[in-house]
Amino acid sequence: MSVSLSIATTTILSLHLLLFLVNANSSMDPYKVLNLILNPNGTVTRLQKFPQSPPSPDPNLPTPALSKDITINQSKHTWARIYLPHKPHSKKLPLIIFYHGGGFIFYSAASTYFHDFCANLSNKTQSVVVSLEYRLAPEHRLPAAYEDSVEVLHWIKTSNDAWLTRYADYSRCYLMGESAGGTIAYNAGLRAAAIVDEIKPISIKGLILIQPFFGGTKRTPSEIRLEKDLNLPLIFTDALWELSLPVGVDRDYVYSNPMVNGGDKVLEKIKLFGWKVGVFGCDGDQLVDRQRGFVKLLEGKSVNVVGQFYSGGRHGIFIGVPSMSEKVFDLVKSFH
Ligand SMILES: *[C@@H]1O[C@H](CO)[C@@H](O)[C@H](O)[C@H]1NC(C)=O
Ligand SMILES: *[C@@H]1O[C@H](CO)[C@@H](O)[C@H](O)[C@H]1NC(C)=O
Ligand SMILES: *[C@@H]1O[C@H](CO)[C@@H](O)[C@H](O)[C@H]1NC(C)=O
Ligand SMILES: *[C@@H]1O[C@H](CO)[C@@H](O)[C@H](O)[C@H]1NC(C)=O
Ligand SMILES: *[C@@H]1O[C@H](CO)[C@@H](O)[C@H](O)[C@H]1NC(C)=O
Repeated sequence: MSVSLSIATTTILSLHLLLFLVNANSSMDPYKVLNLILNPNGTVTRLQKFPQSPPSPDPNLPTPALSKDITINQSKHTWARIYLPHKPHSKKLPLIIFYHGGGFIFYSAASTYFHDFCANLSNKTQSVVVSLEYRLAPEHRLPAAYEDSVEVLHWIKTSNDAWLTRYADYSRCYLMGESAGGTIAYNAGLRAAAIVDEIKPISIKGLILIQPFFGGTKRTPSEIRLEKDLNLPLIFTDALWELSLPVGVDRDYVYSNPMVNGGDKVLEKIKLFGWKVGVFGCDGDQLVDRQRGFVKLLEGKSVNVVGQFYSGGRHGIFIGVPSMSEKVFDLVKSFH
């Protein structure tokens, strides 16, 4: 099912704009477009710094939710920020694994932008939220983030962390992400559906994909229409794929384009398990046609999918605009 809705907010340009304006006149060197410096020793310096927030475990502070950071895998520098509502309504709460956005290259689970969203997500949907710090490209190209996205499930399963063991209902787990994080949530879902017995007692009930970042070589009408959109121009998304996909593959690869080979065979399992899939998008985002095509693909495979598409808007609107975040929280509550 796909529903069309309208947005009652003014369009606010997102942080992607800040990245782009600096480099609007660069040549198509993806490092230049993304404002990255490739150092002689092979490391990368990101010239834009996004504000970060510390975790807030103190119950006396007036935060939407408690939060703390926990190491997942020291050798990969992966960790997670876990969120718990202050006064949980019931003993066991749904468990949401969240993957932040940023084109596989930018941002962190500690970024204020995603921290504030996750704290409200936990507060307003009464869920335990685990926001993963996965490995970024181009230092770690795909499938590194996809591998990390599933490793966290294995980690949760054996963790003794009290917030998880006391409050999280492992049998009601949802995978959620925004932008590239939505793409990661989808790929985590495909991988998890193939190994449901290995991740027990974690049982996934659904996926929430907020403006997932999908790609392909053939331009869609919305990509052509919004090619020079300052918020998320094509030159920018092309550069993101160039530096996050494995060297030597193009955008028609399973990591970037969910439509190749008629869709992943594992979707058949996702249908059988009865997972609910929610997809958010809006017409002001050049990615919208790929997101709509993705919803059609799932509908064609009889997956239980809900597409919520809005007129106007822009990429990033569901995280950056509180009234739009509420739309996501409402869908999560309806899934619970
Ligand atoms: C690129 O530079 C030219 C000349 O300096 C300028 O006229 C044009 O507006 C710039 N383009 C963008 C997208 O900033
Ligand atoms: C690599 O070079 C960058 C920039 O010069 C520097 O900040 C970083 O510490 C170096 N890393 C290693 C592992 O040498
Ligand atoms: C939700 O957040 C508000 C502050 O934003 C706080 O007063 C309230 O206690 C929180 N509720 C829960 C259940 O954590
Ligand atoms: C941590 O990552 C290393 C390197 O990829 C891997 O060999 C190891 O199995 C991981 N540890 C756990 C507990 O998953
Ligand atoms: C979080 O929720 C509060 C209370 O509804 C709201 O004022 C705030 O803007 C929200 N923050 C974000 C980042 O959505």
